[in-house]
Amino acid sequence: DNRGLIDDFGRRVRYLRISVTDRCDFRCVYCMSEKMTFLPRQQVLTIEEMANVASAFVSLGVEKLRITGGEPLVRQGIGTLIPMLGELKSRGLKELAMTTNGSQLVRHARALREGGVDRLNVSLDSLDAQRFRRLTRTGELSKVIAGIDAAQAAGFDRIKLNAVIMRGRNEDEVLRLVEFARERELDISFIEEMPLGNVSDHGRDETYCSSDEVQRIIEQRHVLTPSTESTLGPSRYFRMSDAKSRIGFISPHSHNFCASCNRVRVTAEGRLLLCLGNEHSLDLRAILRRYPGDMARLEREIIASMRLKPYQHHFTTDGDVQIVRFMNMTGG
Ligand code: GTP
Ligand code: 5AD
Ligand code: SF4
Repeated sequence: DNRGLIDDFGRRVRYLRISVTDRCDFRCVYCMSEKMTFLPRQQVLTIEEMANVASAFVSLGVEKLRITGGEPLVRQGIGTLIPMLGELKSRGLKELAMTTNGSQLVRHARALREGGVDRLNVSLDSLDAQRFRRLTRTGELSKVIAGIDAAQAAGFDRIKLNAVIMRGRNEDEVLRLVEFARERELDISFIEEMPLGNVSDHGRDETYCSSDEVQRIIEQRHVLTPSTESTLGPSRYFRMSDAKSRIGFISPHSHNFCASCNRVRVTAEGRLLLCLGNEHSLDLRAILRRYPGDMARLEREIIASMRLKPYQHHFTTDGDVQIVRFMNMTGG
């Protein structure tokens, strides 16, 4: 049976994340340095190459596909790629999702829905316009809120917000973000910052804020009940007694979730990364360009790459930069 991608620890890969570009219209302080340089275009996978990669993974049993970046909606040709991926649902794909900063959703929400996108995750770290600008360096809060509205109007109903919580920067907004999610019936995940790339804006040890602290803040106001629901992602979900919203915690530092890892990711330049926190990888671009159209070969190499998947990341909170690669290459 070749419909299973199983690693050496018995974990089955069912979830593929594809970063469609390293470019972004924001420069979030935890993700990028102030001066980022981006990849020359010919080093980035073409739309057709990405569709082939996704197709190969679906043939191998992947059920969930998430499009990330950078900001996926600034990628040229994204409007062509989405329906190609949507088509994979006739071949076993169960969910097509996207993680976006929301800035372009007003323009794209309807086409995403029509192209088969089932769920959207929107990054939102502050509800204060000035602070939002400081955290994203270039972002405009009102556009993101309008984008969320447009997505809901287009029929997206299980939108999840992502908030990276940093001490001294936005931990005082936890309750406000929860209220925002509740009022609009959005889910929200609170994320512990991960040490990818030297962002140099702040020492990540100084701003580290554990999920347990965030949870205690929420519990001052709400009763949280653990939920057994899963999206196949790393969030641990809770329910609030009187609301539709789910509250999630993504806690790479304080509650390691590697034992149940079910995912791999493809970078914008076509490196299949077996773990976000390690460099073990397979160069899919080289295979795609050397043997164009040879899907059987692509699938064989992907199956073989499962032997490379490490057991876990080794992130620390003490300020050591662990991974030189920035988050925008990988999309998380
Ligand atoms: P759903 O569960 O489908 O809602 O999505 P998700 O949480 O898997 O994806 P999203 O793109 O919203 O990512 C949220 C956060 O989880 C980001 O900070 C990612 O970097 C992080 N994340 C996702 N997968 C992994 C992983 O395998 N390891 C680590 N350390 N972080 C991950
Ligand atoms: N640590 C944790 N989360 C991060 N993200 C980007 N950089 C980091 C980081 N260093 C988040 C974004 C987005 C998701 C894909 O990853 O906020 O929601
Ligand atoms: Fe862009 Fe996302 Fe990185 Fe922010 S976190 S700079 S929105 S890629």
